[in-house]
Amino acid sequence: MKLRTLFTATLILAGTSTFAQQAKKILAPKAELVKLIDKQLGFATAQYKVLVKKVPGDSLPETFENGKSRSIPAKNWVSGFYPGTLFYLYEATGDKAIHDAGINKLPVMEPMKTIDSHDIGFMMYCSFGNINRLEPKPEYKDILITSAQSLIKRFNPTVGCTMSWGSKAGEFRVIIDNMMNLELLMWATKVTGDSTYAKVAITHANTTLKNHFRPDGSSYHLVNYNPSTGGINVKQTVQGYADQSAWARGQGWGLYGFTMMYRETKDKKYLAQAKKIAQFILSHPNLPADKVPYWDFNSPGIPNAFRDASAGAIYASALLELAGYVDDTLAAKYVDVAETIIKALSSDKYTAKYGGNGGFVLEHSVAHLPKGAMIDVPLTYADYYYVEAMLRYKNLGKK
Ligand code: GLY
Repeated sequence: MKLRTLFTATLILAGTSTFAQQAKKILAPKAELVKLIDKQLGFATAQYKVLVKKVPGDSLPETFENGKSRSIPAKNWVSGFYPGTLFYLYEATGDKAIHDAGINKLPVMEPMKTIDSHDIGFMMYCSFGNINRLEPKPEYKDILITSAQSLIKRFNPTVGCTMSWGSKAGEFRVIIDNMMNLELLMWATKVTGDSTYAKVAITHANTTLKNHFRPDGSSYHLVNYNPSTGGINVKQTVQGYADQSAWARGQGWGLYGFTMMYRETKDKKYLAQAKKIAQFILSHPNLPADKVPYWDFNSPGIPNAFRDASAGAIYASALLELAGYVDDTLAAKYVDVAETIIKALSSDKYTAKYGGNGGFVLEHSVAHLPKGAMIDVPLTYADYYYVEAMLRYKNLGKK
């Protein structure tokens, strides 16, 4: 077998489009929580019908702030979450109107397949990736492959990463969030047999593993590399409280990203990293009892600091997958925390009233506190990962 074919075959065996968990007793969903989840999924479906009416035809929803709905063009990094959430809700409820609302947004999203953005994975895999999983079509597959081709153009082999933010001369900035975009690349190798995409993803993950993390398992938000030498200029936490602090959502992107890379490669070092991140989060003295984190683990003002529901939703979803890859004791712990988060997010403290919150489901997320942008508001990605976590919970332990 040729090396390339062997590499691809190994990946196909390692990864699946949805994750496969080992059959473990501990991974059975609890009937009482499933009942609550079904109620929440029904509510979210009704609530999204309110949201659907508020979104102008050529744009996508971002938030609801100061009594006003705000939408964004498809080129914004959050654009794919809204169709993605609609497809998850359709998967959960079979509601045709919700399905069609998602389909209606695809022509707006399609031109993004050639955008020069590290976030193209979020944008296209959450939207086209989900509908292609549910209703595969050659045109969706082509759009996703073109998107993967666009993403790998940002790869610099000297640094060993795809570039995140636009950079000044001598700078190549990579954020932990970018781990999330690698799923599109792993998928592209599986469907095309071309190992180039996976090699970029694996190199990016290895470089991130080496440079983004601190000894305690927390991560910097950003590593700024020299694009000519691959050396490190500086490490920062732009969206968090301070460079040395642990920005809550960033820890979530790392947890989810390395869990996903373990699923796709079965490389044990990714599993070890995901467990280390989980250990950091779950043992942190500033993680509240309901496990929905403050926006930054080191924020001043805790316990009166803002919570970030989006980070909580990402943790819940990632932990439910990670539980399938670890021993029973750890699996029970991860499932327990995910259950606690889902229950908290499903309570009146975080779930909006029908018709309120601009049609979004969850309240109380933080987008970019240092910039003063979208603080303690609904965010489209909080809803996306919350709905994903609930579906993952219902499917817990299923092959
Ligand atoms: N990817 C940007 C954020 O998490 O806010």
